[in-house]
Order: sequence, then structure tokens, then C-alpha cells
Amino acid sequence: MTILLKTDPLRPDRDIIRKAAEILLQHGIVAFPTETVYGLGAVAFYEDAVKKVFIAKMRPLDNPLIIHISDLTMLHELSSNISEDVYLLAKKFWPGPLTIVLHKGPKVPRVTTGGLEKVAVRMPAHPVASLLIQETGLPIAAPSANLSGRPSPTTAQHVIEDLYGRIDAIIDAGETIYGVESTIVDLTTDPPTLLRPGPYPVEVIEETIGRRITIPDFARGLGEAEVALAPGVKYRHYAPRSKLVLVEGGEREEVARALDELLRKMPQGKSVCLALTRETLEALGVHQSLKVFVLGSRNNMYEIAHNLFKILRELDRELCDITLTEGVEEKGLGLAVMNRLRKASYLRVEVSRVKSLSFNQVPF
Ligand code: TXA
Ligand code: MG
Repeated sequence: MTILLKTDPLRPDRDIIRKAAEILLQHGIVAFPTETVYGLGAVAFYEDAVKKVFIAKMRPLDNPLIIHISDLTMLHELSSNISEDVYLLAKKFWPGPLTIVLHKGPKVPRVTTGGLEKVAVRMPAHPVASLLIQETGLPIAAPSANLSGRPSPTTAQHVIEDLYGRIDAIIDAGETIYGVESTIVDLTTDPPTLLRPGPYPVEVIEETIGRRITIPDFARGLGEAEVALAPGVKYRHYAPRSKLVLVEGGEREEVARALDELLRKMPQGKSVCLALTRETLEALGVHQSLKVFVLGSRNNMYEIAHNLFKILRELDRELCDITLTEGVEEKGLGLAVMNRLRKASYLRVEVSRVKSLSFNQVPF
């Protein structure tokens, strides 16, 4: 059975949070909001509880969990090798959506770190998350509270869709703030590595530690999740069931022209939807038979980030077979948005290549 607990996000009800903390201390698992997305928590030191998290999500055991803390003393229980850079980042960005990967201390079970000798730590800023950790008095391991491979949840309703009946409790405190997961930086490598772009742009993190950070292709959403024009590879990460076609690059008029061209090439008998920015939709004009989802404004990456996962889930509810979407500029929060869009995509195509594209080779 799953208990639903409701509270105000900004002034959390202490009794409600205590109840959730008790469940965690009894080795249960609880979904709770953070400023990024909802997490599914277990006390990081309880192996049996952490295993329940992997099972509930159907998550592969080698995919490590982020450990959430509410103050810096907890950090010392997780790692015994804390560099000056960690303190610099913690001072500037915690509490907030930054996860730091450092060397694991002996107290952290390997189950929690997916077998790695490294541990990922973050201090969330959401009042509910923060109070929950304080009331529990122990660090909480929490991946996003979705079934493995599904878009991350930004509302309690999303958690219910994926995990109701599989976990002990859900704290509902409304929508999360950012809508994309934390920025992850690995400080155990030299130079440090960006493992996942998020709300804090990599540029300001580099500035803080005074060092360059390596941005591997996979952090841009390239590589692993790539579906080349030659079809075959179908592993998608934030995958909606709807097949997402991502048009990359170009000014809004070019994008609109490319979309127009794509619409004419769509296979017959498929339900085609659009998930686009307001500006591009305007340039494209009305296509009455199509279902339209507005990502936000091209000039407001916060709006797009906030709406993205919710829209990915809506595409499935609306039974869109194919959804055409557009890329954004890869700077600041835009890098985080592009990483998610590319990972969720079935097919990526440059604006300039749309003309020569033939869907005969693509199995929709
Ligand atoms: O914003 C967030 O980070 C959210 C909220 C709930 O805090 N959490 C989240 O967790 O997105 P999850 O499990 O969906 O993504 C965690 C990712 C892992 O897939 C892995 O790539 C990386 O963090 N990670 C965790 N521990 C790591 C470690 N020890 N070494 C390297 N990467 C690690
Ligand atoms: Mg996740």
C-alpha cells in the first residue's frame, strides 16, 4: 500500500514530514519533491531499503544513486577525501541543484553507489526535501521517482502513475521548480567532468573552481542515446512511447520551414503531434488536425525546462505516434534541455538535412 501525504511546498507541515521520516527510519521508501524533480528516497546506509528503491523503479543495479544531505556534517560520513574544490562549490551552490561526485567513504554501502568507489552527493534546496532529511537525521539516497527509462516526475501525479502500490509513501507538494535534474560534476577526475548538465550552467561552476570542466559527448545527449539516420539503435532514456523527431539548429523561420517539409513527409495513418516553442508555432501557422504542445518561449529556457517532462508524458496520454519537436541553443540551461531532448528522441535531424531526408528507411 502507498500512503499519500500532502503538504505545502514552502511551509511544510512538520507532522507530515515526521511521518515520512519515520517510514524511512523503518527501512521504508518514500517519494518526495526536490527543486528539480521528485526523488524516491531510502536511508543511504540501509542496504535493504536501498535495494527496494532499485526494485520499485526496475532500475539496473549498476546505476548509482545520488545521496541527499541537509548539512555539511553529513558529507563527512559519505567521503573521507574532500578537496578544497568541493568546499568552494558547496559554499556557492548548496543547497541547490548541484551534485558532486567524490571518493566514497567506508560507511556508504556499495549497493547505493552501484558498485562504484565514488559517491554522488547533493544538498537539495526544496523545503520539503531539506526538512525530510533533517527529521530523518541521516543522508537519503534518491534517484528520480519514475520507472526506469520513463521521464522524470515533476508532480506527485507522475509518481503515482509510475509507482503507486510499489512504494510506501508519496509526499505531494505540487510541481517541482526547475523540472530538470541536478547538474552532476565528477571531481575525482582531473580535469573535472560534467556527467549531466542541469540547472546550474557548467560555465559558472568552472568560474567558481577556476578550472575547465570536460564536457563529454554523452553529457550533451550525444553518443549512447543516439539514433542515427540508419535505424536500429532504439535505446532512449527519457523515452515517451511517442516517437520523437528532433529538428536541430537553425533560426525559427528555418525550423518552421523544415517542420513544414517534415509534416508533408510523415507516414500515412500515424497520429502526428507537435511539441514546439510558441515562436516556432507562430511561424509555422495553424495545422488544424494536429495536437499541439507548447514547450514555452524560445527566450525562456526556464519555462521550457519546467514543462519538458510533463509534456513528454502528455504525448503518451494523447496517443501521439510521432511527435515533431525542436532543439534549443546549447548554452546555460539550454544544454540541460538539449541533453534531455536528445536522449528522449527517436530520430535527430539537422535543419539543413530535412530536405534530403526520406522516411522510407525509418521504421515508424
Ligand atoms: O536532481 C536530481 O539529481 C534528482 C533529484 C531527485 O535529486 N535525482 C536524480 O537521480 O536525477 P537519478 O538517479 O535519476 O540520476 C542519478 C545519476 C545516475 O544515473 C548517474 O548517472 C549519476 O547520477 N551518479 C550517481 N551516483 C554516481 C556515482 N557514484 N558516480 C557517477 N555518477 C553517479
Ligand atoms: Mg532518473
